[in-house]
Amino acid sequence: MTQVSHRQWGEVSGRGAVDLWVLQSPQVRVEVLTLGAIIRSVYSRDKDGQIEDIVLGYDDLEGYLSDKRYLGAVVGRVANRIARGHFVVEGKEYQLDINNGPNALHGGLWGFNKAIWLATAVEGGVQLSLTSPDGDQGYPGEVQVSVSYTLQEETLTAEYQARSTKTTPINLTNHSYFNLAGQGSADIYDHEVSISAESYLPVDDTSIPKGETKGVEGTPFDLRKPVLIGRQLQEVPSPGFDHNFCLSSPGAAWTERHAARVCHPASGRVLEVSTSQPGVQFYTANFLDGSMTGKGGARYQKHSSFCLETQNWPDAVNQASFPDCLLRPGEDYRHITRFTFTTV
Ligand code: BGC
Repeated sequence: MTQVSHRQWGEVSGRGAVDLWVLQSPQVRVEVLTLGAIIRSVYSRDKDGQIEDIVLGYDDLEGYLSDKRYLGAVVGRVANRIARGHFVVEGKEYQLDINNGPNALHGGLWGFNKAIWLATAVEGGVQLSLTSPDGDQGYPGEVQVSVSYTLQEETLTAEYQARSTKTTPINLTNHSYFNLAGQGSADIYDHEVSISAESYLPVDDTSIPKGETKGVEGTPFDLRKPVLIGRQLQEVPSPGFDHNFCLSSPGAAWTERHAARVCHPASGRVLEVSTSQPGVQFYTANFLDGSMTGKGGARYQKHSSFCLETQNWPDAVNQASFPDCLLRPGEDYRHITRFTFTTV
């Protein structure tokens, strides 16, 4: 049985209140903010019953308002990169703002991570919704978006839905940074990761996929069997993992499948991720540099956490061989990702 409660957490001048929703099951406590549909905390037990918060974040609203690293947030309208922020849909050219080298990243300068979402209680959780107007950040069509977070025992389910008045690219994910030793721990080198992917997407020097899918066999991206993250980081090109792993082929049917497992042997904590999305970005927090002050005064450093961003393949709107990322009027966008927190 999950208990759900909420209270006001802060106020953004001129924009209104930000609420904190608390989802408490016998095993796990999840805190969600109406700002950015952010997962603010995940408290889970280790093998000895010791409770820690295992996601990075900030102590106050100011931290989240000035955040540039998407800590815990839902990112959209299009998560990950669009090459040069440019695409053509139904013969019409669109130019987005450039906010990451020469490319557009995570929905633009004012993405879904900065919006205050409307919250309603649902069985075991909360549903957050927003309207993204036609032309928002340069994207076509008015889009109705909702994300529901529900907690059942040790499983947190995120369900994303959207509809649009015009054909638009869409790609929604959650950008939580995890450290299974407890947020604020120095690094994730002692975590073991496995990802259920036979191939990944090699990228250019601006992190745009080159177009080919490459088999993981014989490469440092072969994570089909558990590997120690610290050791594997010595094998991948610097600064670390920031790559899409392909979970299914373009055109594959909508099915939920196992994506990844991370285990922290010292605490016994395990995170399992499953999803209906065709890819997952495994990102080892390469661009955190100790400059932000996080929860409890923590200074988050490079490799202090990892993200498993379930998603469509990056730049899919420009790459015809990638899974379709277009949402057309009358269609329903729907994806599910489950995070399960257990111990060994
Ligand atoms: C990207 C990284 C980026 C991070 C935070 C990830 O999804 O792949 O390159 O630095 O998000 O902005």
